[in-house]
Amino acid sequence: MSRVFVLNGPNLGRLGAREPLIYGSTTHADLVELCVKAGQELGLDVEVRQTDSEGEMIGWLHEAADAEIPVVLNGAAWTHYSIAIRDACSQLTSKLVEVHISNIHKREEFRHHSVISAVADGVIAGLGVTGYALALRWIAEHR
Ligand code: DQA
Repeated sequence: MSRVFVLNGPNLGRLGAREPLIYGSTTHADLVELCVKAGQELGLDVEVRQTDSEGEMIGWLHEAADAEIPVVLNGAAWTHYSIAIRDACSQLTSKLVEVHISNIHKREEFRHHSVISAVADGVIAGLGVTGYALALRWIAEHR
C-alpha cells in the first residue's frame, strides 16, 4: 500500500477543545481515525502526525521528500509566515495538498495569505475535517 503523510501543525492537537465554533467538535484522535479509515477505503497507508514544533515538522517533510511520500499538510499558523516550512515543502518529491479546516479567506486578513499554496498541488479550505478525506481521495487518484 502507498504511504501518505497527513501532517498537522501547531494547536491542531487541541481540536475539539479549541475554538469549536471555528474548528468544530472533532478531536485530533477522531481526525486520525477519519484519515486512516479514508485511506483504507482508498488503498492508502495513511500516517497522521501532529506537532507544535517547527523543527519536527521540517524533519517530517524531509522524510517525505526522501521517501517520495505524498503529503496532506495543515500547516496551521505556520501557513501564514513560515518560509522554513515552505522551503521544506518545495523539496517534496510527490504530491502536496494544503488543507485548512476553516475558510482562511473569510477570516482575519493575516490568514488570507499562505506561503505554502504556491508550492502545493492544490488547496482545500473551509470544508471542515472533510477536507482531509477529499485531499486523500485526490492523492489516491493522482499518485
Ligand atoms: C487553520 C487556519 C490557520 O489560520 C490557523 O492558524 C490554524 C488552523 C485551519 O485548519 O483552518 O491553526 O490552518
